[in-house]
Amino acid sequence: MPTREQQQGYSRRSFLTRVGATGGAGAMFATMGALGLAPSAEAATKVPFQPPSPSDFRLRGRGAAKVLVLGAGVAGLAAAYELGKAGYDCTILEAQDRVGGRNRTLRGGDRLAEMGGATQRVRFSDGQYMNAGPARIAQWMTTMDYCRELGVPLEVFTNSNAEALIYNESAGMKAPVKWRTAKADVFGYISELLAKATDQGALDQRLTATDKERLLSFLSGFGAIGSKTSGYAYTGTDRRGYTVDPGAGHQAGTPLGPPPSLSEVLASGVGRSFSFEFGYSQAMLMFQPVGGMDAIPRALARAVGHGKIKTGAKVTKITNLASGVRVEYVAGGRTKVAEADYVIATLPPNILAKIPHNLGAGVQAALSTPVPAATGKIGLEYRSRWWELEDNIYGGITNTDLDLATIWYPSYGYNDRRGLLIGYYNFGAAADTYAAMTHEQRLTRALNQGAKIHGDKYRKDIAASVSIAWKRQEHIEGGWISWPSRGAEYKLLNEAQGNVYYCGDWLSYEIAWQHGSFESARKVVSELHQRVLKS
Ligand code: ALA
Repeated sequence: MPTREQQQGYSRRSFLTRVGATGGAGAMFATMGALGLAPSAEAATKVPFQPPSPSDFRLRGRGAAKVLVLGAGVAGLAAAYELGKAGYDCTILEAQDRVGGRNRTLRGGDRLAEMGGATQRVRFSDGQYMNAGPARIAQWMTTMDYCRELGVPLEVFTNSNAEALIYNESAGMKAPVKWRTAKADVFGYISELLAKATDQGALDQRLTATDKERLLSFLSGFGAIGSKTSGYAYTGTDRRGYTVDPGAGHQAGTPLGPPPSLSEVLASGVGRSFSFEFGYSQAMLMFQPVGGMDAIPRALARAVGHGKIKTGAKVTKITNLASGVRVEYVAGGRTKVAEADYVIATLPPNILAKIPHNLGAGVQAALSTPVPAATGKIGLEYRSRWWELEDNIYGGITNTDLDLATIWYPSYGYNDRRGLLIGYYNFGAAADTYAAMTHEQRLTRALNQGAKIHGDKYRKDIAASVSIAWKRQEHIEGGWISWPSRGAEYKLLNEAQGNVYYCGDWLSYEIAWQHGSFESARKVVSELHQRVLKS
């Protein structure tokens, strides 16, 4: 018998779909909550973004305002894009000769200048690229929504790969291990220990008899451990991998030998790597734009209109006025002045702190509070994709305690002839060490370190390489920032100062992610728009 909903011509699912289409995800979740399908407390926490709309002005009989956006990184472009849709008159001032800020993809023919260092000429071959800044997007991030809206095609970015490696030199590891082997051993031994403790009654205060049964059953599968009669022993299984892979007929394959001892596994520290892939921002699946991350700022710039973006325009002074803001900037060697009703300043705080303004000592102190973080990458183009041909590694990341920190295998161009690795992506002191070197020195060091993992082939057949040290990038001077605490300074800069708004990933809870830039841009344009409507 059809339900009443079906008789009325719609099912519960189509009803929810229509609510979602008209009211956004927030409305849909609230409705689902009311229907008992989703926890409404969680639904209530996310307020859907309502972009400024030209009809807001028409309804109220007002015109839109003039806005100067400082910086054509993702936050600045997104702010101008959203305001532009509503008819605001936006101009972006960008010090560099390109848009994107830290979202930078390096390809053959590019030049990469460095403060106090040589300019590198990028010699990657056609089709090879390196995402020097952001390189991965989680599915829940607002960045995905902008890719959809702007028509930026996406593909999977492999953030974790069972075939990639872990190598901790300081723990005395003689050779790297595959993630799959490390996981089999760590999960196996942890399961054995927990099963023994459970069985021997050590957890009886915490577990009922039924809990114990269920936990033991879980551990049996999770750790691939033996039965009670074997003492729940972990002795290794084919989860560790094979030396000869299973094949046809009688070739059952030759599994890797028995695991190292529990003590050896603990001493190797391989388990330290695992928590990375549980992170809310890091868990698979992850995505990347096809052909390079800069597809995002390029699409945004197209949507904003290239005529509205002045590149090569370095801001030198910000003056808040009783009505409006005056900005001085240098372009083509000449000082120029631009005036607008509002400014949205999206430069990194460490750069803004160097620009004179009249917003007071509190703002200056707040801008000087966040600490720029060091990070760097090297791109290594090889004439053959030996990591695929010889090691079966098709994307993913090798984790190490070497100063190269991580090696990234490309998530594009599988089985092509050439390929490009990120030979290091490191942070903090290690990044500072590489930043202090010339490119040639960085390359030599990266190859010597990488050869500890991949052997001599790592040093051979390199067609081209480029390295970036983000603290030495002019107009940026850091990979991202960290707040000692999100205290009064964070709060202050998250509020308009006169007619000046601050905006960027550094004013979000997802620093160092484009998501943070998009979210901050949405927050600021919403606030500015509400103010304009009230004025
Ligand atoms: N978002 C940066 C990364 O993915 C920190 O490594």
